Amino acid sequence: MEDHQHCLYLVLALVSLLVILLAKRRRSAAAPEHGLRLPPGPWQLPIIGSLHHMIGKLPHHAMRDLARRHGPLMLLQLGEVPTLVVSSREAAREVMRTHDAVFATRPMSPTMRALTDGGRGIIMAPYGAHWRQLRRITITKLLSARRVNSFRAVREEEAAVMLRVCAAAAAESRAVNMRERLSELITDTTMRAAMGDRIKDREVLLRALDEAIVLAAGFNPADLWPSSRIVRWLSSAVRRSEEIRQTSFGILDEIIKDHLERMERGDGGEVEDLLDVLLKVQKDGELPIPLDTDVIKVAITDIFAGSETTAPTLEWAMAELVQNPKVMERATAEVRCDVPSPRTGRCGRRSSWRRGSSTCPSSSARRSGCTRRCRS
Ligand code: HEM
Repeated sequence: MEDHQHCLYLVLALVSLLVILLAKRRRSAAAPEHGLRLPPGPWQLPIIGSLHHMIGKLPHHAMRDLARRHGPLMLLQLGEVPTLVVSSREAAREVMRTHDAVFATRPMSPTMRALTDGGRGIIMAPYGAHWRQLRRITITKLLSARRVNSFRAVREEEAAVMLRVCAAAAAESRAVNMRERLSELITDTTMRAAMGDRIKDREVLLRALDEAIVLAAGFNPADLWPSSRIVRWLSSAVRRSEEIRQTSFGILDEIIKDHLERMERGDGGEVEDLLDVLLKVQKDGELPIPLDTDVIKVAITDIFAGSETTAPTLEWAMAELVQNPKVMERATAEVRCDVPSPRTGRCGRRSSWRRGSSTCPSSSARRSGCTRRCRS
């Protein structure tokens, strides 16, 4: 009997010790040595931090599940990198709008440093005069309404190519992998808008950019433990990133040379591409901080980051439309100009399509009315 009591006391003492240790650990995770009040997050292990919570799942699925438990502002420790996961509209607004300047500088992982030549482009430049200058050039010269409109023919031609591929497959009752088609549509459109369509080594450049995006987004050891020289030495990610930058810079050097020669000859083509625009800005030399050619190369490759977001967004929108026939019907009518968009009051396309007009988008739209005059 006495033996049993001793055992019970020992177990109780051990359980209490464990509870105290866990509580202490939790408190120290919430308020570490600097006395910061950090957001909550899942429990951590030494060295790997929160990584074990993400094993076997896609990172965004794991983060979504954890955020359901810990809230819209959650702190994960990915290896040695503290990572804030923001997952509600309100929290995103706080980060992207209210405290924009605080969060504007992106943390530079070793892979990103290698890929972006030390963060000299739009995406990775730290908040400051250089970033503000690049952003001003982007807004006023590269993505102005006039410039975006100038690429309309490119967008229409590329969309037509995709539709022809779909129509040919439909005629033979073949399935179409829309993910691949949309990705090609966006890459080809971006490529033509960024550098025109006379590109040497186009495929090599695209493969390098694709691999760069995988490396930049991946959870590779060199980025998870950036302070460890051994990990950096063992991991191939940074070496590979440097090779990719050298490959893409080499190809871009040739493309830039080509563009400069054409500009000299006055043979710029009908539509100025984004590289032409940046080279002209550089040549004008009116900027407070001179634009060097390496910055132009990184800025042009930054534009391709947009394909990684645009193609999946299109794919997602199409999947949602397929699952919601009523919304699909409304969207189809809006695009065919049967009804103006409830949001903008305009038809899907900006033009003067109207009943019976020869420029009406399609014969079925003409037949079905195209009754309203577009108000653009
Ligand atoms: C549906 C499509 C897209 C989505 C959802 C998207 C989303 C985002 C988000 C959330 C950011 C971060 C903003 C911030 O830190 O304040 C960003 C930045 C950026 N995006 Fe996009 N994007 C899209 C399309 C594009 C396209 C088409 C381009 C290129 C033409 C592009 C180029 C960039 C660049 C260069 C940045 C960095 C801007 C900076 O650091 O100031 N994005 N994008």
